[in-house]
Amino acid sequence: MENNENRSVNFLRGVPAQEALEKLVPAIAKGYETAVLKYGTDVLQYGHFTGFMPLRELIGSRHGVDPGRVVAGNGGLEVISLFFKSLPRQSLILVEAASYDRVLIDAMRYGHVPVGVALTSSGVALDRFEELVKKFRPKAFYGIPFHQNPTGITYSRDNRKEVERICRENDMFCIWDVCYENLRYDGNTNDTVDISEWGPVVTSSFTKTITPGTKCGYIIVPKKYVAALSQVVANTRINPNLPTQAFIADFIQSGHFDDYLKYLCALYRPRMAALNHALNANFPGGLSCVVTGGFFATLTLPNVLRENETDFIEAAQKNGVSIASAWDAVAPDLRDDLQKKGLYIRLTFPACKPENIELGISRLKETAKLFNIKG
Ligand SMILES: Cc1ncc(COP(=O)(O)O)c(C=O)c1O
Repeated sequence: MENNENRSVNFLRGVPAQEALEKLVPAIAKGYETAVLKYGTDVLQYGHFTGFMPLRELIGSRHGVDPGRVVAGNGGLEVISLFFKSLPRQSLILVEAASYDRVLIDAMRYGHVPVGVALTSSGVALDRFEELVKKFRPKAFYGIPFHQNPTGITYSRDNRKEVERICRENDMFCIWDVCYENLRYDGNTNDTVDISEWGPVVTSSFTKTITPGTKCGYIIVPKKYVAALSQVVANTRINPNLPTQAFIADFIQSGHFDDYLKYLCALYRPRMAALNHALNANFPGGLSCVVTGGFFATLTLPNVLRENETDFIEAAQKNGVSIASAWDAVAPDLRDDLQKKGLYIRLTFPACKPENIELGISRLKETAKLFNIKG
């Protein structure tokens, strides 16, 4: 057994726990074999541009929508990217003040302009949201309503519904990325997003709920938008990885998926509890919310300003805890202001055992003391 001194704690990697993946190996090996033998050349040939129909049907029925509206692709990020690619260049996109960094970077690659809206512990700041909608007439809003990446917050139902209403009344897409919806560890269940004819657009992924290696995600769009999106999909990558989609269809149909979700929630629950406990004990008031699921939390360290940020991160590293600033996750127009408030970090916890989470946060506190930061 490693003693504490030699143990290093890494809060950087947004990956599932290693033991969770190890547990899956036999089921995945068998599942791929079953899927290929069951569907044969249908999953080896070109085709199914918008995804493997049996999987789209299952996703459609889980969300209560016509499977014709579901586009299943190679991961959540891919389908979000394809959706952004389908929008007119230089579209203005409202995003949460802190969001999934890769999505922001990807949107900007298509020339889109992200504009940030402040977050509260129960969703977006609605007055500000409405103000920005009136001012900029955005093409879309992209938000992560459950166990948000990076802050960990979950929107209240009322907040989510208001966002949807404003988007609908202003003829803009409301895109909800629900990839952490099923990863709730506090014993409660998240209240699912209702999808009607106009939207909202809903996207998700099996990366965190099965494995990142299989890379499968989907997006549900309004019926009238399917043709436009399908065109972009077909011209970008023709078909997705079909054996993977066939395997996932079987994994869901056989009940393994729901069982595995239960296992994951039980595995991550004590890690979430350790994170909340350690942060409250060491940095009271520094946490964006009580974490109830997902993969992330953010912490602001006042006093660590831009000029001593690198020194702080290096000192933490020497003290055996890996962290990084989360500036790429902050909407570019809000970055300067947030940077004045101190170092903003994202902590990823599911791959760390509870005792390591406690140890890592206490080391962070020790490092903070060196920089004269009060908890
Ligand atoms: C909010 C959010 N959306 C999408 C993804 C990416 O999903 P995928 O790995 O399926 O591309 C992530 C991964 O961290 C995420 O946090």
